[in-house]
Amino acid sequence: MRSHTVAYIGKRKAIMDFPQEFIRFVKNASRVVALTGAGVSQESGLRTFRDAQDGLWTKYKPEDLASPESFARDPKLVWDWYAWRREAVKGVRPNPGHYALVEMEKQIPEFTLITQNVDGLHRFAGSRNIYELHGNIQKVRCSECGTYAETWGDDTESVPVCQSCGGLLRPDVVWFGESLPRAELEAAVTASRACQVFMSIGTSGVVQPAASLAHAARNNGSVVVEINAEPTPLTPKVDFAFHGRSGEILPELVEAVWGN
Ligand code: OAD
Repeated sequence: MRSHTVAYIGKRKAIMDFPQEFIRFVKNASRVVALTGAGVSQESGLRTFRDAQDGLWTKYKPEDLASPESFARDPKLVWDWYAWRREAVKGVRPNPGHYALVEMEKQIPEFTLITQNVDGLHRFAGSRNIYELHGNIQKVRCSECGTYAETWGDDTESVPVCQSCGGLLRPDVVWFGESLPRAELEAAVTASRACQVFMSIGTSGVVQPAASLAHAARNNGSVVVEINAEPTPLTPKVDFAFHGRSGEILPELVEAVWGN
């Protein structure tokens, strides 16, 4: 299939810029997968993973904080970084891109949302058939026995500990070098292999295994679509690429496909 790239400028450029062929694919599809990344939450006010960090965190790379080795070396530093991110997430709300994906789930018989985001904004918006591949930042569990903690004190000099075994508490997210939750990953792979349209939205597509899902879809005959602020390593491989903000493009897409 011919690759079709549209540089999307925003609302005023509007609906007619979606190729008719693309609209037909989405409208006729009964199995659609959307894979999202940090870019989808950018318009809610959250920084993407590879953006510069704020204030005291500017001297650290996220990759250097999100690992079991970092936690073993300096658990308090890692705990505090997640506490900072957890607070940032509490203060934000879903944006029109999140809500457009909720609408797609209503319109498409089998719609699967796979997210690398740990912010929980898709669920907050109302998405239901969703796999959170990298966990959820609002959940906390013991690093030793795995017991989930409902409450913990954040005001201590040290990392809070598990009430069952005394192990250090940690966020329930997947760190570099750790395995993804098996059931979620298997379901994500199955859905990606079976879908007719696969959309990669707001992700740089450089972190595995999530990045390989688009290829699994393509190898099984799916139409692959990218929606991103800028080109990514996936762009040359997709059938349709729309470059712009997902909070603008996704609502326009819903309108173009299912509007009157
Ligand atoms: P990244 O920070 O790597 O990429 C964000 C992507 O979103 C980039 O490609 C941006 O161009 C795009 N983007 C930014 N603003 C956008 C907007 N308003 N609309 C559309 N696109 C926009 O984030 P991820 O790809 O999600 O993993 O990163 C994947 C994983 O890497 C994360 O889940 C995390 C990280 O390491 C773990 O922590 C295990």
